[in-house]
Amino acid sequence: MRQGNNLGGLLARQRMDAGWSQEELADRSGVSVRTVRNIETGAVQSPRNSSLSLVVAAFQEAGLFEAEYVLRDFTDRNGTERSAALSGRPAGVSTSNGVRPGDGHDWLVGRKNDISRTCDSLHRGRWTTLVGPGGVGKTKLAFAVADRVRSQFAGGVSIVRLGETSEDHDETAIRHAVCAALPAEESRGEGSAAMRRLVVIDNIEHLQTPAVRACQRLLAEFPDLWILITSRHAVAAAGVKTVEVRPLSAVDAEQLFLYRAQAACSDLDLTGRGSAVTEICRKLDGMPFALEVAALRLRSLSIDTLLEAPVRQIVTQPSVAGLPHQRTLVESVTWSYGMLGEEERRLLHWLSASLEAFTIKDLLGRPDREAVADDVPHLVDIISDLVDRSMLQVGRGSEYRYSMLGHIREVIGMLQ
Ligand SMILES: Nc1ncnc2c1ncn2[C@@H]1O[C@H](COP(=O)(O)OP(=O)(O)OP(=O)(O)O)[C@@H](O)[C@H]1O
Ligand SMILES: [Mg+2]
Repeated sequence: MRQGNNLGGLLARQRMDAGWSQEELADRSGVSVRTVRNIETGAVQSPRNSSLSLVVAAFQEAGLFEAEYVLRDFTDRNGTERSAALSGRPAGVSTSNGVRPGDGHDWLVGRKNDISRTCDSLHRGRWTTLVGPGGVGKTKLAFAVADRVRSQFAGGVSIVRLGETSEDHDETAIRHAVCAALPAEESRGEGSAAMRRLVVIDNIEHLQTPAVRACQRLLAEFPDLWILITSRHAVAAAGVKTVEVRPLSAVDAEQLFLYRAQAACSDLDLTGRGSAVTEICRKLDGMPFALEVAALRLRSLSIDTLLEAPVRQIVTQPSVAGLPHQRTLVESVTWSYGMLGEEERRLLHWLSASLEAFTIKDLLGRPDREAVADDVPHLVDIISDLVDRSMLQVGRGSEYRYSMLGHIREVIGMLQ
């Protein structure tokens, strides 16, 4: 069985990632080495609540946020008895349904620069937003950053997931959701400078306006609060620092693809198939979600079949789990598309059928563009909006160059 699919495997992976021996974990947590060993080997599949709490606390105390989160989340999803015992900790992480298995149950590929840019941004200001298209890895990155900076936030790190929150949530409801995740003294406004606290708010795009207002209010109310947001939409508010999350580099994309392929099918041998792997990763623009879906397909399709398969065949394949809008790439793009206005949609359809990479000059030079928008300033506004909503990528040379990720183009074509 793939390590990590059960509590024992999960614990062993997190312990080894932390660089701890079984003895060290026992020492740090106060449970016996025998208990650690029994959990990891599966000899004990339902350990006592108190033992599990101690083990999770050891990761928490060491500032290993991702490990703590993974273990909490696993227990939350695999038994209410254990969950009840673990969820009462004061600096706990709010978990919710719809966590993709990849969210924290294994390592992060690449992203070194993105992690340091985000950490740097958190040093320089109290509000940072990770922005990028659906499935690019914003949540994954946010967790890794939270893990990295945890020791600098003595008041702790909390996660608030808004992905499943309905669009009619207003500013007050969002503020309440965030306050509920903060420790009691902080939500009463009594935090001290020594108790800096970070809250990661995941997925605000569908609640952008009320969520931004709620964050502004929270930052004004709690001087010791830092906010890290993930959103597919750029946040236009004073003082917000934006870190753009782009697809993975070619090397990292290949590593993720191979890792996921191996996890999906442990006896798969891709030796000598380096160029096919490179080509698939290029075809999928290095998009982690797309790479994961494609890698899963290797269980049933050969790499050559996959290479020849149209992107359309990949975008309709289900991922392992996730929120409803994260089940397939079609659902992911459709969710973003659903938040666009009529004119933006019309331009997107036209672009997907008419232009590959383009500059504003290219666009204005097209005689047929009048069919989508004849007023030039307005057309430029719509392009700008599509960039802000991560539906177009932008290359910022002396002249900006716009393009659409292949899977977005494919899905937009299907929505016509
Ligand atoms: N650098 C990475 N290393 C390993 N796995 C990754 C990496 N980036 C993303 N993934 C995996 O790819 C999938 C999509 O990532 P993630 O959920 O973070 O995307 P997202 O940008 O938050 O999407 P959404 O806008 O739908 O919330 C997840 O299963 C995640 O674990
Ligand atoms: Mg996300």
